[in-house]
Amino acid sequence: MHVGEILNVLTQFFHRQGIENAHVDAELLIAYVLQCKRLDLFLNYDKPLTPKQADALRTYAKLRAQKHPLQYILGSVNFYGQHMKVDTRVLIPRPETEELIHQLSEHWVNMPPKRVIDLGTGSGAIAITLAALFPYMNITASDAHADALCLAIKNATIHRVAHKIQFIHSDWFEKIPHHFDCIISNPPYLTEQEWASTQPEVKYFEPKHALVSKDNGLADIKKLLHQGIQHLNPHGCIVLETGMDQHEYLHSFAKKCGYRDAKTTLDLHKRERFFWAWL
Ligand SMILES: C[S@@+](CC[C@H](N)C(=O)[O-])C[C@H]1O[C@@H](n2cnc3c(N)ncnc32)[C@H](O)[C@@H]1O
Repeated sequence: MHVGEILNVLTQFFHRQGIENAHVDAELLIAYVLQCKRLDLFLNYDKPLTPKQADALRTYAKLRAQKHPLQYILGSVNFYGQHMKVDTRVLIPRPETEELIHQLSEHWVNMPPKRVIDLGTGSGAIAITLAALFPYMNITASDAHADALCLAIKNATIHRVAHKIQFIHSDWFEKIPHHFDCIISNPPYLTEQEWASTQPEVKYFEPKHALVSKDNGLADIKKLLHQGIQHLNPHGCIVLETGMDQHEYLHSFAKKCGYRDAKTTLDLHKRERFFWAWL
């Protein structure tokens, strides 16, 4: 069979297996084994796969049919125009987090903060993207999970920004001695029930500790807001990616903690997803 026929067969197979973006996933996997760009696939439509490529494609197709996330199979995800390596040690960075970076960049257009921390950095997507966008920013990135931090350092090295980021292995602020102009985090914020109803790709393959938080999904966010006060410079800001039903509570909690001002911003689907609070 040549590439065009394989694409049809694989798309139909993924459809039958209930894969959401069957055609796109089939294209991306075939492009991956051919080591070409998805957009260049049509140049290869009439070519057959080598036996080695066909074997590799069969293995990847089986994994995808078992609901392994495509990004873990490909080993990377495109985040804000850069390839980040991902595997089961880290959450796959989401488009919502790209939107957070976009909003931060707009907010900082005239005066970017000097010292910033990305708490719970996972793959390093936030810290690495900020380091690329803001060359003079002093950036710290931390995670409680050493294996996630290893991957973040690897990504920072690949993107040549490792020397610009200080990586710290820490349970939130426990080992963070510094003060910052801006604290950023996309912490775990799902409730157990929300996690139980996520797609199999999320529930069975992404690290649960990156997704679920106690106290109705609020335990980690509350800790960050509460302890963040002691790590912010005067007029500093904490910016959190959150669940959509948490904002009414977060405004009153931030006030109780002593923040002077707060606001909620929306993601691309107009959902309340980002919480900003100022000292
Ligand atoms: C939702 S993921 C975000 C990953 C990455 N920042 C992103 O946006 O793609 C949450 C991250 O917080 C980390 N984390 C969970 N509990 C933590 C804790 N107590 N202290 C520090 N990091 C923690 C997890 O290991 C995970 O990498």
